Amino acid sequence: MLHDSFGRQFAYLRLSITEVCNFSCQYCLPNGYRKKAGPGFLRVDEIARLVRAFADLGTWKVRITGGEPSVRKDFIPIIETVAATPGVRRLATTTNGYRLKENAHIWRAAGLDAINVSIDSLRADVFHKVTGHDRLAAVQGGVEACLEAGYEAVKINAVLLKGVNDQDLDLFLDYVKTRPVSLRFIELMRTGDNADYFARYHVPARVVSDVLERGGWVRKTRDAGAGPAVEYVHADYAGSIGLIAPYSKDFCKSCNRLRTSAMGKLHLCLFAEMGMDLRPFLQDDAQINKLKEFLLKSLKTKKISHFLNDKITGGNHRFADIGG
Ligand code: 5AD
Ligand code: SF4
Repeated sequence: MLHDSFGRQFAYLRLSITEVCNFSCQYCLPNGYRKKAGPGFLRVDEIARLVRAFADLGTWKVRITGGEPSVRKDFIPIIETVAATPGVRRLATTTNGYRLKENAHIWRAAGLDAINVSIDSLRADVFHKVTGHDRLAAVQGGVEACLEAGYEAVKINAVLLKGVNDQDLDLFLDYVKTRPVSLRFIELMRTGDNADYFARYHVPARVVSDVLERGGWVRKTRDAGAGPAVEYVHADYAGSIGLIAPYSKDFCKSCNRLRTSAMGKLHLCLFAEMGMDLRPFLQDDAQINKLKEFLLKSLKTKKISHFLNDKITGGNHRFADIGG
């Protein structure tokens, strides 16, 4: 089992498969993705070995992230490969929803159990402004397709942005009234690239929890092994609301996840200074035991928390590089 020196256990892997994204969200890739020289992203055979090693060490939940994972032409074989790995019981992905409508059923059939769709605003013009793409209706159609396709969980991520969506809580609440989706408000996080944007748009998740608590929403008790999101439910609503508040005290105490980049680096934290290269261990099956030893050893160096409150963002320049 993967655990660190602070007693935290890690059964959840966030596996990035690409840095490429076709959106240009203001806080992440304001100028869009620009191709970089160098080795390509992990191949399917490398991904298969990587996930096998993690699963052998107790990982049972995997989330495929990016960039936008579905821009990979071999996205479906990747889903099939990860889903078929012994020990993996839950496979999720996070997508910007581009072409989700056409693919929701196909990905579900390939082995995807759960999906997170990023929707920062339910106003078409604001969505367009934030993401650079006038596609709110198409993305919402994708969410409906996921609900029809019978995913075990459908979640929506909205990054809380001052003056952009923090006044729109009523729209979001209406949306979850009849839909069994979990809507997560994520506090904007400072990265190496977005300092000015952060200063202007960051708003604490407390603005949402205050409104929820006044409106009769109740905080769900945490399941054992649950991650850092705080969940609220309400008897009159089919859906739920989650808050992800990385600047809050104790956020890192419930950390249950590890990340690997599309280049095959292990990131012990979203804000770790640098990744540890796993790629040399991924080239043939004979290296898997060495990879497992490396993972167990590396975990001992995981720090107790991030240092975001000291404005230290580590090696995280933008989320498109290692996934959110
Ligand atoms: N702060 C908070 N969330 C972010 N995401 C991307 N960049 C940031 C940031 N700086 C979110 C995306 C998506 C998820 C993968 O991460 O909006 O929902
Ligand atoms: Fe793409 Fe996600 Fe970054 Fe938006 S936040 S630009 S959808 S990787």
